[in-house]
Amino acid sequence: MGQNVGPGRLGCWKVVPAINSFLEFDKKKMIHQRDTEEKTQGSKMKFNQDPVIAVIGLGYVGLPLAVEFGKKYHTIGFDINPARVEELMSGHDSTLECSDEELASANRLGYCCDLNDLKTANVYIVTVPTPIDRHNRPDLTPLIRASEMLGSVVDKGDIVVFESTVYPGATEEDCIPLIEKASGLVYNRDFFAGYSPERINPGDKQHRLTTIKKVTSGSTPEVADYVDSLYGSIITAGTHKASSIKVAEAAKVIENTQRDLNIALVNELALIFDRLGIDTEEVLLAAGTKWNFLPFRPGLVGGHCIGVDPYYLTHKAQEIGYHPEVILAGRRINDSMGQFVVNQVVKKMIKRRIHVEDSNVLIMGLTFKENCPDLRNTRVIDMVREFRDCGANVDVYDPWVNPAEAEHEYGITPVKEPAFGKYEAIVLAVAHDQFKDMGSEAIRKLGRRDCVVYDIKHILSAEMADGRL
Ligand SMILES: NC(=O)c1ccc[n+]([C@@H]2O[C@H](COP(=O)([O-])OP(=O)(O)OC[C@H]3O[C@@H](n4cnc5c(N)ncnc54)[C@H](O)[C@@H]3O)[C@@H](O)[C@H]2O)c1
Repeated sequence: MGQNVGPGRLGCWKVVPAINSFLEFDKKKMIHQRDTEEKTQGSKMKFNQDPVIAVIGLGYVGLPLAVEFGKKYHTIGFDINPARVEELMSGHDSTLECSDEELASANRLGYCCDLNDLKTANVYIVTVPTPIDRHNRPDLTPLIRASEMLGSVVDKGDIVVFESTVYPGATEEDCIPLIEKASGLVYNRDFFAGYSPERINPGDKQHRLTTIKKVTSGSTPEVADYVDSLYGSIITAGTHKASSIKVAEAAKVIENTQRDLNIALVNELALIFDRLGIDTEEVLLAAGTKWNFLPFRPGLVGGHCIGVDPYYLTHKAQEIGYHPEVILAGRRINDSMGQFVVNQVVKKMIKRRIHVEDSNVLIMGLTFKENCPDLRNTRVIDMVREFRDCGANVDVYDPWVNPAEAEHEYGITPVKEPAFGKYEAIVLAVAHDQFKDMGSEAIRKLGRRDCVVYDIKHILSAEMADGRL
């Protein structure tokens, strides 16, 4: 059993393994194996019953992972954001991915933002963000910083597992060399790597970390086995061991690329059917009666996964001389949907002789998806900007949003409650349960007479909306 060694900076506690608890993956044993067998290949690196795991980056992905590992193993949750660490130490997760009870149930998990507290770990799992820059190019800065930082704490025999979504090759071509440089250790001799992408879906209480099959991989066959059994010990849905780190990286990035493209196809269909004057939902319902028709729906594609990850793949493709067409075409369509919706609403307002300039528009929902507070890369912002460009006054109402975050990220101050009878147009942008519960009558009461109600997410029945995707 590990022991609590008392509070460090920020009151963080760290855990240390009891002597001899690292039976098969003991650092000294690894060095001994290397000395005696030259390489670890052929050595018996079996699953260690009591590793110390450090999770680097405690966001939507890192925290649930740290909590699951922290129920079983000594786990150190590390984040560079002291406010996030303080919040978690107080027992609350503002992303709402983990309840207070779940946090409390991880009784072997401690939090810290002091690098020194990481040194006792043997397995480091990196879950930092992988955004894109304003030119839609991968921004590896958080991964680079985390890798350089890990270079100062990894020790012989340690394993660094990356979970952040990247393009194939990023782990071994971009991150590992930085760890080698900063540590002076040699990859696959002194320290090892793995890649295990995350598939969670924020706000989804059904598909959770432990109930989603997890892809794993390792830098040697032995490490792959080790990483696979480590994850296998917490993932009840089981694991899939990929043949290499690159295969696992590629698998993750194509999952989201496929989803992005499927939605892009349906969005393009919505653009065509609008011109044909037929209802997209009705067409999809009819086509969906065929056994192999995929049930995708049109919509805005935001968040920092589906709308971002394809650019990682297209960046890598372009780097090696292949210029992707289908993937980027899909991205363009999905990114144009906010503008399309505003055009539709404005046309309907004009037909009703509503003066668009100085009109009051209500947008219901700002988060990138329903029933979660995540604002990252929300495409609702495209509609806010477009309406403002038309001279409309825009109120944004979203009971899930932290107002300070909305102000900080987008310069938007959401209204606490929408006013009754105020709006000339209402756009239902996000399918939060609160909006579904309100129903069409209560939503319509927010508008003036002749108010245009546009329902992006099909919250209302077709006849209760003036337009929908
Ligand atoms: N959110 C999702 O639904 C989801 C699903 C699957 C995969 N992913 C991928 O997982 C990765 C993480 O995503 P997320 O949503 O958890 O991000 P997030 O922004 O919620 O959390 C990242 C955390 O990492 C911290 N951080 C940044 N740099 C750091 C560093 N150098 N050292 C330590 N901590 C650092 C941040 O302070 C933040 O708390 C991304 O690559 C993302 O694409 C996300």
